[in-house]
Amino acid sequence: MDVAAFRALEPLCWRAPSAHNTQPWRLDHRAAEIRVGWDPADALPAADPTGRDLWLSLGAFVETCLVVAADAGLRVGFVPDHCAEERRVGWLRASGSRYDTPFGTAEVRGRRTHRGRFSAGPPTDAVAAADAVARAAGGAVRVVPDADRLARLLRVADRHLYADPAVVAELRSWLRLTPGHPDYHADGLTDRCLGLSRTEAAGLRAALAAYPVLRRLGLPRLLAAAAGNPLALGGAVLVLVGPSGVDDARLVGFGRVLMRVWLTLHAAGLAAHPLSQLVDAPATRDALGSVLGLPPERLLHVVRVGRPAGTAARSARRTDGAEHAGD
Ligand SMILES: Cc1cc2nc3c(=O)[nH]c(=O)nc-3n(C[C@H](O)[C@H](O)[C@H](O)COP(=O)(O)O)c2cc1C
Repeated sequence: MDVAAFRALEPLCWRAPSAHNTQPWRLDHRAAEIRVGWDPADALPAADPTGRDLWLSLGAFVETCLVVAADAGLRVGFVPDHCAEERRVGWLRASGSRYDTPFGTAEVRGRRTHRGRFSAGPPTDAVAAADAVARAAGGAVRVVPDADRLARLLRVADRHLYADPAVVAELRSWLRLTPGHPDYHADGLTDRCLGLSRTEAAGLRAALAAYPVLRRLGLPRLLAAAAGNPLALGGAVLVLVGPSGVDDARLVGFGRVLMRVWLTLHAAGLAAHPLSQLVDAPATRDALGSVLGLPPERLLHVVRVGRPAGTAARSARRTDGAEHAGD
């Protein structure tokens, strides 16, 4: 493959989404192929102990690389070659034809996680289109029917998240709550992306700094309550369902499916707001499984989806300087 031509496109590939915006992917350029791996420093061992979100994020990155390359006329394919010891998921290599995708760089650039208000939920045909994308890969996209139950489950999941000091410390290390943070323009979750006002961001910073002292005095409950109820901001909640027994390599494949689903939704004028805590907490994952009549381990990802009422802030990337250098 034309490694030099692909290299020039990489800042755009970096627009791929990742949990906590850690951008865990790493590319190792060889003469005629590129190795896709990851850096464990950008994994989330506390929040994501099984690596589910790591594999999904790496898959989302691979899909983004293929879409970007195809739009530039490059014939690039992905060859899975999962090896945990060598921190490798596979290779980008020359392919006989351009990657077949309805999406291009416009969708990759335009897609954003939207944590704010939705003016409407997803129309039935958009959900059907997302489901068709997942079905083509042996999965499905299902709508969670019971909104009241879901709101209760979300409260339980948030409490579970904030009750674990390691998860909170990890989250804190990826929060960028003031523009003065040295990595504000590079990675992590900014106050603007989270839709926090200055006062809210300052309050969250103070609460998280006090967490070790106040944990036993009920701070986790308070933090969970302060997270509010995103379901009140509109939209419907969709679940990406996989087949039984997906291993890590297949989860990377489902990360590609996740990206295709998000781009499908984006192309329909919709946006996604992941609610991973619902599948992170065993109790809420089990409950969600029983609501959907599915074994809980088949639930791979949960998102609130709808038509954005406003524009979400653009998230940072480590390559942003490189992307704008040619503008
Ligand atoms: C596997 C995965 C899990 C995610 N989980 C959450 C989540 O639980 N809550 C949330 O607000 N965002 C979640 N996100 C969204 C990321 O935070 C977001 O993609 C990242 O900050 C980059 O922003 P962007 O999507 O606007 O480019 C998740 C993303 C991925 C790929």
